[in-house]
Amino acid sequence: MFTIARMIREDLQNAREHDPAARGDVENAIVYSGLHAIWSHRVAHALWVRGHKGPARVLAQVTRFLTGIEIHPGATIGRRFFIDHGMGIVIGETAEIGDGVMLYHGVTLGGQVLTQTKRHPTLEDGVVVGSGAKVLGPITIGAGSAIGANAVVTKDVPPNHIAVGIPAKNRPRNPDEQVKLVDPDAYITGGFAANYEI
Ligand SMILES: CC(C)(COP(=O)(O)OP(=O)(O)OC[C@H]1O[C@@H](n2cnc3c(N)ncnc32)[C@H](O)[C@@H]1OP(=O)(O)O)[C@@H](O)C(=O)NCCC(=O)NCCS
Repeated sequence: MFTIARMIREDLQNAREHDPAARGDVENAIVYSGLHAIWSHRVAHALWVRGHKGPARVLAQVTRFLTGIEIHPGATIGRRFFIDHGMGIVIGETAEIGDGVMLYHGVTLGGQVLTQTKRHPTLEDGVVVGSGAKVLGPITIGAGSAIGANAVVTKDVPPNHIAVGIPAKNRPRNPDEQVKLVDPDAYITGGFAANYEI
């Protein structure tokens, strides 16, 4: 059985792996809004699926007030989910998120219709969504794909692709990019410069 303590340890390790600014676990547990949001969501989701929908919504709303991250308690989120920076994130009720997914600030996983159907995106394992990106509708972002900062995505993205722009266009992802895309260090320090002339 996957215990709560193991899950918290895994989340803390995940934060260290995804953010070069992360330091000790105690500090990270206190300062990372993304961790607070996912821990709160797991409680809210458990309440939601057991039929305690009112308390689940209230908990999600309090978390939104405290973190700036709005996750509907009905959303299904896998393990090792990480939100860097937090703030301005919206994840809709019927969104489904696999394992090892990472979102930056300002991401919306939203709907385009007002019907009570599956209307939010599915993000398969290992997807990275850049800051400010809007992923809209019951579309699927394939495993290992990345959505560029500020993209607006309304159509499926195949596995291991990159989608950028408005409306987003897909291109296959070079396997060498995998490390760079999941490691924000690459955008900040020598990782990027080591691979590319900038
Ligand atoms: C989309 C992304 C994943 C592509 O990374 P990449 O494959 O290494 O792409 P490159 O940097 O080599 O750029 C390839 C081309 O796409 C363009 N491009 C890159 N990111 C783009 C974006 N978000 N929107 C539009 N075009 C973009 C580049 O200008 C370049 O164009 P060119 O071929 O005409 O020169 C990355 O640029 C990105 O947006 N990551 C999100 C990072 C983020 O949100 N960081 C927040 C930290 S706080």
